[in-house]
Amino acid sequence: MARPVPATRSVYVCQQCGASAPRWSGQCASCEAWNTLVETVVTRTASAGGGSARARERAASAGSAAISPIGGVSSAEASRLPSGIGELDRVLGGGLVPGSIVLFGGDPGIGKSTLLLQLAGRLAAAGHATLYLTGEESASQVRGRAERVGAVVEGVGLVASTDLATAVGAIEASAPALAVVDSVQTFASAELGGPAGSVGQVREVATRLAEVAKAGSTCVALIGHVTKEGTVAGPRTLEHLVDAVIYIEGERMGTTRLLRAAKNRYGSTDEVGVLEMRSDGLVEVADASRFFLESEQPPVAGSAITITLEGTRPLAVEIQALVAPAGYGSPRRATTGIDVNRVLMLIAVLARHAGLNLTGHDVYVNVAGGLRIDEPAADLAVAVALASSLRERAVREGTVLAGELSLSGRLRPAARAERRLAEATRLGFDRMVTGPERGGAARASAGHLVTAGDLREALRQALIED
Ligand code: TYD
Ligand code: MG
Repeated sequence: MARPVPATRSVYVCQQCGASAPRWSGQCASCEAWNTLVETVVTRTASAGGGSARARERAASAGSAAISPIGGVSSAEASRLPSGIGELDRVLGGGLVPGSIVLFGGDPGIGKSTLLLQLAGRLAAAGHATLYLTGEESASQVRGRAERVGAVVEGVGLVASTDLATAVGAIEASAPALAVVDSVQTFASAELGGPAGSVGQVREVATRLAEVAKAGSTCVALIGHVTKEGTVAGPRTLEHLVDAVIYIEGERMGTTRLLRAAKNRYGSTDEVGVLEMRSDGLVEVADASRFFLESEQPPVAGSAITITLEGTRPLAVEIQALVAPAGYGSPRRATTGIDVNRVLMLIAVLARHAGLNLTGHDVYVNVAGGLRIDEPAADLAVAVALASSLRERAVREGTVLAGELSLSGRLRPAARAERRLAEATRLGFDRMVTGPERGGAARASAGHLVTAGDLREALRQALIED
């Protein structure tokens, strides 16, 4: 049977004001912005059965809207599909949601294809059919990786193509529980003129796949490379077109991989998942909290341990500092895993309020294990690590530090201090130095909580005396 030729037309839509023009030009005629016009498909055939979900929806809305009582609508929670990878489920908010589209972003080589191929294998092994659409690598390359990560499982289908219509056709025909599209930058619609990876194509691929996901119960996992600017290549609108955005982070040379949700319509965005890259793929670490503790006790000079909260999860992390006499010129200040400006502030606070002058010293601060810490509760550990390195005195055994330092040298308590202390205790630490609660009354349960009002007092509590 001959299929109707889709009646498509493309126009150029301004990404700034939304005005459309029949032809491309460098400047938008409406808002006068430059280089904002992007080719966009506007019409598809509306003939029954063959049309896009968008066209069908439009046809349906010509009649009357279907109103459902809210109690009669099933929630996403009920139908969540556990992914089989606990750390991923944690970040997704409890599992994959059928009919959703999730963008997985990350640097090239970080492990996106690996993670999603593993996911396809796990789901298939649990009896849910999956489809892996590869536009980036050949089918045999994917097969090779599948062997390494244990994803050669019945129920994993493979399609090697870069054509969007082929991808959509394959998903619609097999209606898998999960369809992985690797990657959004390599698939292209023949209806648009631009090359794969161009803004118009990336948007069209995501829009079309989102429609396919919503029209059925397939969860579409879209892989996207991250550009130097740190966002998924293509328009920012890509993030608006999907239900969730999960970033895979880590240092390429290291083995730790962190999963973080930048957007999640189905859960929180504070949770972090911890995975480790091994020869057989990404594996969950047995005790994520202990994972970032680089060195075992007893502590050495320049090392301090804090308990940081990533979402609801407490993680014990070692902060390492090296303070060394500087050569000629201005001294170096370099950090990994923590904002250099925060460290500069702490250096100033140490000089002003603890009499520790680092002016003539190079300063290096490193968060062990490739984690990135943004919360001010790590201040005290950074300051103590710096003081510890300068004075060549180790932190007292069994001590963790958590508290925010103000410019005046006062120490504020870390949020959810009890939660952090409980985790520290579980890991075998027996003291946590932190700031006093407002009002000053120490809690009865706080047997191992050592409170210090300011930096000087905290350093006395934290460091081994002569
Ligand atoms: P990949 O998943 O191809 O990254 P992406 O899709 O994000 O570009 O991962 C590539 C890297 O991972 C590569 O450098 C090799 C490494 N790797 C392992 O260490 N172990 C494995 O089992 C696999 C499959 C890859
Ligand atoms: Mg890849």
